[in-house]
Amino acid sequence: MLKNTLVKITYQNTRMKTCSIYIDEEAFEFNVEGDFFWGENKLLYKKENNVISKMPWQKEGFKVVEAFRNEEFDILKKSIKKIIINALKENNIEINDSSFVLEDYHKYVTTNELHNKIISITRNLEIDDFDFDIDLLTKRFGDILGYKLTSWVEELKKTHIQIRISRPDSLDINPPHRDGYLSYWEDIINVWLPICGCNKKSSLPVLPGSHLLPENEILRTENKGAKINGNIYHVPCILETSNGIMSMRRPNPKEGEALIFTPFLIHGAAINQNKDLTRISLELRFPKL
Ligand SMILES: [Fe+2]
Repeated sequence: MLKNTLVKITYQNTRMKTCSIYIDEEAFEFNVEGDFFWGENKLLYKKENNVISKMPWQKEGFKVVEAFRNEEFDILKKSIKKIIINALKENNIEINDSSFVLEDYHKYVTTNELHNKIISITRNLEIDDFDFDIDLLTKRFGDILGYKLTSWVEELKKTHIQIRISRPDSLDINPPHRDGYLSYWEDIINVWLPICGCNKKSSLPVLPGSHLLPENEILRTENKGAKINGNIYHVPCILETSNGIMSMRRPNPKEGEALIFTPFLIHGAAINQNKDLTRISLELRFPKL
């Protein structure tokens, strides 16, 4: 289904489209089902007093910054390993706690059905399930951005933390999208943290500067309006912009670093091109106070 393989497009209905993108100049395509439309001549990104408006990189819309110091990253990674081992055991997978490495996840989870069961556990985690200090990170990112942040998302009445797992040669991806289309993500900073298997072949792609595109230059679905590989996503799928096929980049933060970006930056489609490495990342969001 990915590049260099035959893409079989079955036009059983007209809602099936091929999403074509470039990631670091390499072409990819996958099928998306949904109703696509161009929006109104309106810029949703507010240039004044938004969470990245004091940053010299406001035009790009993203930056790689330091997230963890000393052993903070290793402690967090250990707690994620424990969470995933527990999720595997809950699904009756035999596992040796000491020899298991997160990058080998796909060797244990060999079907989509089982993967969906695992992510139904990892998508419902609370901050207390992880071994790290959320307040410390909140302050650290707030200091970088020059705004007071919080980890509490009032509309959802919770803190948002999510593990993302992407198996090699899979469509464990969400579509290119903007989180800012969802009301509770309008005024936040997105934080993407690599945990394992994250490199130039698997890291999260972004479309630089795309937060500055008005809606009439974006072809997209409604929220919850796109299906990839049988999965429906909360966020809309952006198929293309008025500039044509999207040319995305992987900023590729290292372990201990974070990719931070405005929720109006187009991102997603983090296809894992590694042949034998599962990619795991952590997603956090901090509203501006
Ligand atoms: Fe997102």
